[in-house]
Parts: sequence; C-alpha cells; structure tokens
Amino acid sequence: MEAIERVCQFLEEAQTYYLATVEGDQPRVRPFGTALVYGGRLYIQTGKVKDVSRQIAANPKVEICAFHGGKWLRLAGELVNDDSRDVKVAMLEKMPSLKAMYSADDDNTQVLYFRNATATFSSFTEAPETVTF
Ligand SMILES: Cc1cc2nc3c(=O)[nH]c(=O)nc-3n(C[C@H](O)[C@H](O)[C@H](O)COP(=O)(O)O)c2cc1C
Repeated sequence: MEAIERVCQFLEEAQTYYLATVEGDQPRVRPFGTALVYGGRLYIQTGKVKDVSRQIAANPKVEICAFHGGKWLRLAGELVNDDSRDVKVAMLEKMPSLKAMYSADDDNTQVLYFRNATATFSSFTEAPETVTF
C-alpha cells in the first residue's frame, strides 16, 4: 500500500484525529474526522467560516495526531486550499453526514490537501516508522 493510502486508512480507522494549527504564537487543536485520498493527494475538509480555516490561510503549517490500535500517527505538513468542485463532491460522497451542513456549491465548504507531509507511526513496542508524501 502506498504511504498516503496507509496514512488515510489509519485516520479512517481511528475515526477521530486532532488537528493542530498555529495562531500567532498560540497552538490551537481540535477534533477532526474527514480524510480522503483523491488524485494522489490526502485531503481534509472544513468550513471557510471557521477559525481553523483562517489560521491555515495565515500559516499553512499543521500537525495531526491520531491514536488507534496501540499505535499513534503524527502527520506534519502544509495544507493547500483546493477549490476544485470534483474533490468537494468526492469528499461529501465519502462522508454523507457532511451533506447536512455542506454542499459542493456553497461558499463555505473547503477542502485542503497535504504538501511536504511527514507521517510517523509510533508505538511503545516498535521503532517509529516515518513516511513522506
Ligand atoms: C469527532 C469530530 C470530528 C470532527 N470533524 C471535523 C472535520 O473533519 N472538519 C471540521 O471542519 N470540523 C470537524 N469537527 C468540528 C470541529 O472540531 C469544530 O468545528 C472546531 O471548533 C473547529 O475548530 P475552530 O473552532 O478552531 O475553528 C469535528 C468534531 C468532532 C467532535
């Protein structure tokens, strides 16, 4: 399995991950659940009205942490906004519960993909494993 698919699968299995952004010199973190590999890129979804979106626009460096099955994943990188309608549609199709709040054609739905991503899988029993994409 490709590194990017492995990372996405881990996020899916964990169901909830925690997305950290930077606001000035203050870290901000919150639970997230969206993850999709599309066109060879790993996407997450948010709303443009949210503070998290404004923080990423000002500083695209983020880190994700997720824990599942005795392993944890830290994924660091930059998030790039993508206004392509087809990715938004694919995200909403994968996660239909989002359709209650978002549509591909509203002015709010935002999908972003990882650039310069470094993912490290860790556990208490095995050596850490790092992949990049
Ligand atoms: C389990 C869970 C998963 C969530 N997934 C997402 C998500 O994928 N995208 C999103 O924008 N908000 C998601 N949320 C809601 C955000 O955590 C919430 O809107 C948060 O306040 C956004 O951060 P901000 O207040 O810094 O903008 C999720 C919440 C929970 C509890």
